[in-house]
Amino acid sequence: MIEFQQVRKRYANGHEALANINFTVERGEMAFVTGRSGAGKSTMLKLLALIERPSDGEIIVNGHQLNKITPRQIPSYRRGVGVIFQDHKLLNDRTVFDNVALPLVIAGAPHREINRRVQAALSKVDLLSKLRQNPGSLSTGEQQRVGIARAVVNKPPLILADEPTGNLDPELSLEVMRLFANFNHIGATVLIVSHDQLLVEQLGQRRLMLHEGRLKNAPMVRTTGGLPPGVAPAMPSVNPRSAGRNPGAKR
Ligand SMILES: Nc1ncnc2c1ncn2[C@@H]1O[C@H](COP(=O)(O)OP(=O)(O)O)[C@@H](O)[C@H]1O
Ligand SMILES: [Mg+2]
Repeated sequence: MIEFQQVRKRYANGHEALANINFTVERGEMAFVTGRSGAGKSTMLKLLALIERPSDGEIIVNGHQLNKITPRQIPSYRRGVGVIFQDHKLLNDRTVFDNVALPLVIAGAPHREINRRVQAALSKVDLLSKLRQNPGSLSTGEQQRVGIARAVVNKPPLILADEPTGNLDPELSLEVMRLFANFNHIGATVLIVSHDQLLVEQLGQRRLMLHEGRLKNAPMVRTTGGLPPGVAPAMPSVNPRSAGRNPGAKR
C-alpha cells in the first residue's frame, strides 16, 4: 500500500528532514512511526498526503507513483487518503455534522449519500448524539473523534494520523488508538505517527523508528514478537501478520 524508495527530503532552507528512507507498509497493515520531535515524522506524512514533495526518491501509494501525480490530480488522490492532524482543524462555526460532511460536499456527493455516510462515520466514533453541536462545545477527546470521522467519511483505503493522541490523557489515547485498530480490522491500512513510546508498545504493532531523518530499524521489527533489531532483514518483504488477513476486504 505504501512504498518509500530511497526517499530524501530537503526543505528550501537546506535542512535535510529525511534521508535514505526505504520501507513498505502492506495493504491491510497497521503500523506506527515513532521518533523524537524533529525526527521527520510529520514530513513523512506530508509526503504521503502530497502536502510536500520529496527531493529525491520514489513514493508509491496504492499503486500511484506520487511523483507522477500532477497538481490537478491531487484532490482525487487525496480522496483515497484520510488524514488526521494533531490540531484537528475543525470549523467551529459549523456543526459536527457539517464538519464531517465537508469532504463529501467538496466531492459533490448527493444529499442522501452525505446524510448516510456522515451518520455512519459519526456512529463509528460514537458521536451520533452530538451531530448538531458545534465542535467548540465538545471535549478534546470528542473533537479528536470528529476529526477522525471526517477523515474516514470517504472510506479511504489508507488512513494517516499525525500524533492523534498528542493532547489526550492515557485512557482517551488508548480509546482513540482502538478506533484506528477497528478501521484497520475492516480493511483500512493505517499509519500513525506518535512519540508516545509507552502507548505504542501497549498496542504491539510494527514500529518504524525515525531518528534525525533516518529510519533506525529495518521494516520488520515489531514491539512484540518479530525479529530483534540486530537480525532484521535489510529489505522489506511481505509482512506475515497482514499477509493472510483479508487484504482486499471491502469497507
Ligand atoms: N517547511 C519547513 N521548512 C524547513 N524546515 C522544516 C520544515 N518543516 C519541517 N522542517 C524541519 O524538518 C525537521 C523535521 O520536521 P518534522 O517532520 O516536522 O519532525 P517531527 O514531526 O518528527 O517533529 C525539523 O528539524 C523541522 O524543523
Ligand atoms: Mg510532527
